[in-house]
Amino acid sequence: MTMADTVTGATAEAIALDNAYAAHNYSPLPVVASHARGAWITDVEGRRYLDCLAAYSAVNFGHHNDEIVATAHRQLDAVTLVSRAFHSDQLGPFCATLAGLCGKDMVLPMNSGAEAVESGLKIARKWGTDVKGVPAGVANVVVADNNFHGRTISIVSFSSDDTARGGFGPFTPGFRSVPFGDADAVEAAIDDHTVAVLIEPIQGEAGIIVPPDDYLPRLRALCSRRNVLLIADEIQSGLARTGHTFACDHWGVVPDVYLLGKALGGGVVPLSAVVADRDILGVLHPGEHGSTFGGNPLAAAIGSTVVGILRRGEFQSRSAELGLHLHARLRSLIGHGVLAVRGMGLWAGVDIDEHLGTGKRLSLALAERGVLVKDTHGSTLRFAPPLVITAEEIDWAVGQFASVLAQAG
Ligand SMILES: Cc1ncc(COP(=O)(O)O)c(C=O)c1O
Repeated sequence: MTMADTVTGATAEAIALDNAYAAHNYSPLPVVASHARGAWITDVEGRRYLDCLAAYSAVNFGHHNDEIVATAHRQLDAVTLVSRAFHSDQLGPFCATLAGLCGKDMVLPMNSGAEAVESGLKIARKWGTDVKGVPAGVANVVVADNNFHGRTISIVSFSSDDTARGGFGPFTPGFRSVPFGDADAVEAAIDDHTVAVLIEPIQGEAGIIVPPDDYLPRLRALCSRRNVLLIADEIQSGLARTGHTFACDHWGVVPDVYLLGKALGGGVVPLSAVVADRDILGVLHPGEHGSTFGGNPLAAAIGSTVVGILRRGEFQSRSAELGLHLHARLRSLIGHGVLAVRGMGLWAGVDIDEHLGTGKRLSLALAERGVLVKDTHGSTLRFAPPLVITAEEIDWAVGQFASVLAQAG
């Protein structure tokens, strides 16, 4: 019998309500969170779990980060939403500090990650017509196979995932997908109508796939040579997850456009952004793009605090140091049920011998032992804890993982 078969009490009640009234677009583990601090989640029955997913990197700075929550409380008592029909005293400081962190001129604030990607694509097309001189309606964007950039119609239009696309057509034209990590293929796909190359510097949902070392530098040179925007989707890889502020920093590459989200909202509010220089973001004029909640004072105040935290560098250092520890511990399980470990910083994709069971089944077994992880693609597990996790907690989690693998074998 597994955890899924034995849920009772408050857990069963909460799940029954979800199943009855919430759309079934996820398949969650039978864990019902009611409280969380740091790297730990407590469920409705008082059981504690070490969170090794961190809401897909949205909780990089820990659950209930004191500094972020203090800002949120302060701003809740001041003003939360005025929409962009007026100015607020929080938007300018947020955009200025985030632009500074990215070394860019301007910020377009949005809410979800998918909105940042959609906005980045709109800006690239507008830049193509207004600046590059591509005839209207024929622009193309080169993307990578097995990408994950969100769930809107245009974004799933260039997904390689049949489940994400099935039944959702007709799709948005204008995308060319080539193998991830293959700069020659990107070069071959670019033509005079190409306005952007959009990539995740490290592919997250695909299983934490790190590209060859020359990939990003070659894309940078190629995009500069062909007058094409290099757009880095750092929504999951960015903001300290990999041991640098941006994953692109590992290769010394500065994209033309950063897409940010998830951790930018401090695990408290949805906050995303497109960040670029004035010659790119300046193509937007009043009425051409917008969002009721984009850049609202509550989110902007929280975003400013998040940037302040990132400027101190403590989470980048923690992720780099503890990431080495996590990867070494996980690699020690190769040959004991683990086939391969990939990733950077506190971000690891772990391929498991499929004879031991699906990633979903192993995630359930780990949850029973108090460790929350997420499977991606069959038998790959992802470890991405909040960056406040300690070395002792990592040791404990990997110990539980070793026991689960030994039991499954
Ligand atoms: C790289 C990347 N881009 C975009 C998104 C979409 O973000 P959201 O779920 O906030 O729309 C995700 C979400 O996992 C992501 O990993």
